[in-house]
Amino acid sequence: MAMTCNVICSSRTGNTALLAETVWETARELGWECAGPEKPRESGREDGDLIFAGFWTDKGDCSEEMASFLEGLEGKRVFLFGTAGFGGSQEYYERVLGRVKAHLAPSNRLAGTFMCQGKMPEAVGARFEAGLRQEPENEALKARLENFRQAMAHPDRRDLEALREAVKQALSAVSRS
Ligand SMILES: Cc1cc2nc3c(=O)[nH]c(=O)nc-3n(C[C@H](O)[C@H](O)[C@H](O)COP(=O)(O)O)c2cc1C
Repeated sequence: MAMTCNVICSSRTGNTALLAETVWETARELGWECAGPEKPRESGREDGDLIFAGFWTDKGDCSEEMASFLEGLEGKRVFLFGTAGFGGSQEYYERVLGRVKAHLAPSNRLAGTFMCQGKMPEAVGARFEAGLRQEPENEALKARLENFRQAMAHPDRRDLEALREAVKQALSAVSRS
């Protein structure tokens, strides 16, 4: 019998939704029956062997709708994937993931994690540019504008390939267990 999974995803501007599509496709390619991608609603209705939960970073954590979805899960295997505007370091992703994981009750098991950078709305970059016109020497603003420009290309093909690999590993580990 085919193994089953659910892809649940919270995405405001489409970055995390793109990741969710890749997760879904990868699971299907490997012969899993995969429901979704769908928005987080009341948890407990997902009956998959594995739940893929996708979030966008909201003030260093996942959004409230994803937090309450994760908090409702019991006894599940969960793979967390997300996007963040700040792409500077793996350390930052680990900090965000640490906060997101904390929404899971101890009865759940983590099956894997993945994060990458995601583009932000043009208005955000325009604010940094306006700020720099006022204060051309402001190094913090310069760094934020540089990060904003880097983010414009993400998620890119390499991000999606890395996600595909992480998902494959998690699926085969769950199939073997
Ligand atoms: C209200 C708000 C808060 C955000 N907070 C953060 C943050 O704390 N750290 C970060 O790296 N990105 C932050 N971002 C950027 C988004 O997480 C990023 O653009 C993400 O890829 C959006 O995903 P989506 O397209 O799936 O909605 C924030 C964006 C918004 C709109």
